[in-house]
Amino acid sequence: MVKRRSSAEAPAIREPGRRTYLMCRPAYYAVEYAINPWMDTSTPVDAARACAQWETLADVYTDLGHEVLRIEPEPGLPDMVYAANGAFVVDGIAYGARFRHPQRTPEADAHEKWHRAAGRTFVEPEHTNEGEGDFTYLPGRELILAGWGFRTDARAHAEAADVFGRQVVSLRLVDPRYYHLDTALAPLDGERIAYYPDAFSPGSRLLLERLFPDAVIADADDAAAFGLNFVSDGTHVVVNAEATGMVRKLRDAGYEPVPVDLSELKKGGGSVKCCTAELRPQR
Ligand code: ARG
Repeated sequence: MVKRRSSAEAPAIREPGRRTYLMCRPAYYAVEYAINPWMDTSTPVDAARACAQWETLADVYTDLGHEVLRIEPEPGLPDMVYAANGAFVVDGIAYGARFRHPQRTPEADAHEKWHRAAGRTFVEPEHTNEGEGDFTYLPGRELILAGWGFRTDARAHAEAADVFGRQVVSLRLVDPRYYHLDTALAPLDGERIAYYPDAFSPGSRLLLERLFPDAVIADADDAAAFGLNFVSDGTHVVVNAEATGMVRKLRDAGYEPVPVDLSELKKGGGSVKCCTAELRPQR
């Protein structure tokens, strides 16, 4: 039986509910190029081990009662395992990705095909954006949070606001190690977030302090262990096992951390969240 917070502190929006996640098996995973500071082409990657770690992550979601859908991996696309980057889905609408780096460009087409085949409304992007890597949604606040500075073009933020008819808060990332928003910030539930302040510009930090005075604050070690690249269902927080400090903070904040070892996937500069695209249903 999973532990739940008392109903007094857990309004309906914080109930786990059943989430739908899209994932891509790392069948062709490798570090063949370096487009973020974590990637080192001279470090060998154990693809079999990556697959085993990834299967464990998928099983964890299923065991928590969530639905895991799969997109077929494609040869020649070693980063396709980071499914979060393929699109951003809110209200059952998929806003497509447009990758910054040519090495990943074809992934956007694969995701587009997948969403269209599923019968989902698909919006082709005009501006560069890396899907859920730089976008997230807080249903309790009716807010989209969006990152820019390394990958996603800030013009894509306005485009997303127009696609979804929702307010978008633009946040500027300034540390190249935290090149995607989902490496530096994550929703804990419909209203609350965790983030690493130093990953953001002074103005964005101020904005985050004002909007989220109750945020869980990560430190440099938490961020470096990919402790912010987690997936929360409002109760359980699936998080990289290496992020032991973050695991403690999450528990202290009233959540139930579920550590998963994704050490192989970290070599490509990603962890739990990068491997997971949330498909948020129609309102
Ligand atoms: N190697 C990939 C890249 O640099 C990692 C992507 C991680 N994904 C994420 N959602 N942060 O694009």
